[in-house]
Amino acid sequence: MRIEVDYLVMGSGVAGLFFAIQAAEHGRVAVVTKRDRSESNTRYAQGGIAAVMDQADSVAQHARDTESAGAGLCRTSVVESVIAEGPAVIAQLVELGARFTRDTSGALSLAREGGHDTARVVRADDMTGREVARALVAAAEALPNVSLLDEHMAVDLILDERGHCCGAFIANGKTGALGTIYAGATLLATGGCGQVFQHTTNPPIANGDGVAMAWRAGAEVGNMEFVQFHPTMFHDPDGPAFLITEALRGHGAEVVDGRGYAFTDPLATRDIVSRAIARHMRDSGQACAYLDATGCDAAETKSRFPNIYQYCLERGVDITQQHLPVVPAAHYSCGGVCTDEFGQTSVPGLYAAGEVAMSGFHGANRLASNSLLEGLVFARRALLHMGRPDGRQKPSTVLHRGASVDSTRLTALREKVRRLMWAEVGIERNDAGLKRACVQTGALREEVEALYERYGADGELVQLRNLITVADIIARSARWRLESRGCHYNTDHAECDQVHWRCETLLTGSGGLAKGCRL
Ligand code: FAD
Ligand code: SIN
Repeated sequence: MRIEVDYLVMGSGVAGLFFAIQAAEHGRVAVVTKRDRSESNTRYAQGGIAAVMDQADSVAQHARDTESAGAGLCRTSVVESVIAEGPAVIAQLVELGARFTRDTSGALSLAREGGHDTARVVRADDMTGREVARALVAAAEALPNVSLLDEHMAVDLILDERGHCCGAFIANGKTGALGTIYAGATLLATGGCGQVFQHTTNPPIANGDGVAMAWRAGAEVGNMEFVQFHPTMFHDPDGPAFLITEALRGHGAEVVDGRGYAFTDPLATRDIVSRAIARHMRDSGQACAYLDATGCDAAETKSRFPNIYQYCLERGVDITQQHLPVVPAAHYSCGGVCTDEFGQTSVPGLYAAGEVAMSGFHGANRLASNSLLEGLVFARRALLHMGRPDGRQKPSTVLHRGASVDSTRLTALREKVRRLMWAEVGIERNDAGLKRACVQTGALREEVEALYERYGADGELVQLRNLITVADIIARSARWRLESRGCHYNTDHAECDQVHWRCETLLTGSGGLAKGCRL
């Protein structure tokens, strides 16, 4: 396969599809997505999209809440301008066919979530992501200029002799065949990396591919230690990941122990609630904590959270009458490929939007429901900034694929990395654990690179290689930061140090070591 287009988009979540739909007005767009076009983190979003939609609310208030969660590392100009664009992107989504929940007067029904000082979350019941994904997929499918390539995985970026990105090497997930897509402009929209951790709310696609590809291409990557752990994933050791939206706490649910005692403020930011639950579990030896929504109006709970109510009921818990077992899990990567305010990365021709990017909007901790907002705004901005795509050049590298590698070995390595990251680089970290983690991720990386050298771009090996690369970047970033801030918490440096550490953590694939950049 060799394809030439004006725009290459990697990923079919909110950022990739929103970009593709708008880019189609200017040229030919190829969207590659490694599973089905509807599969993404976006699809599982529950709470909604934060935006200033109420006259009683303001950009300044939303910005204050965002910066307060971001713990001193947000870029103020990015925060204010992204929030100011919120109403416009919501209007665009509605125009594209997204159906959001409305009250009896027809106005958007806004929810309140942790860290927000008011109700400002636009939602579609408790299935916002499903509705957004449905509307965007349908809109993209209707555009002749957009080719949606399911089961096509981006393996590496193509750089020309000048070091400009001019497309990507692609593997066909069904046949294993390798190909190239050349493009005038390339958007990374590959989402997050929750799979790096043993316990995560993210689906299997969230493997950190975009960060790893950009890293190998020499792009600057930042703030990767700031992994957000969501406090309330449904506790079911044998079942799939299922999030219990924090909107349930906004609705009135308390966080309680096995005897029903509330032990933390349910509306505090996620890092605080996650740590409180993790400590409670460690100190009490309990396998989980509970959400108690029995004090809320039962009819309201059922109508406001139909999906969660039904899901839990099928697993034997009636949330209107019983406490719901929950555990924290890795949820969101606040760090990513560094971009400017238009989504441009440090590699010419390569843009990034959505969870894969680090734009400066979230700082050290993301405020609930600010992710979909950021993805929408940066998808729009990147297109405006790209201008007309320029000419294509010859790639400076080629890919090869050898014999298939033993799958059992790859699975074992993958699980080893995920357990290590959960144990040593999880909700609470310490110096000794981070040191151990770095030694091990470094060694595992070497082992996997040797396999890659030998076997080449085998699908499973490509994924493992990306996972271990990102794990190593996270561990090294976390080890470097000798303080606690936002969602990075080190018990040996439990204080936030505004004098020495109010800086982003920046790494480059070529340079290796972390360097700080003062804001
Ligand atoms: P994604 O939606 O993750 O899409 C990434 C796409 O890239 C996928 O299509 C994937 O298959 C593809 N891809 C990945 N690697 C490759 C590759 N190598 N080649 C080709 N394709 C590739 N945020 C909010 O703001 N509000 C919420 O209510 C909310 N709820 C959430 C609930 C859950 C359970 C989860 C997991 C997250 C939630 N988030 C929420 C976070 C938010 O959903 C994500 O951050 C956001 O959807 C990311 O969008 P994205 O477009 O960047 O990436
Ligand atoms: C949730 O609904 O609790 C998740 C919202 C988010 O990740 O922003």
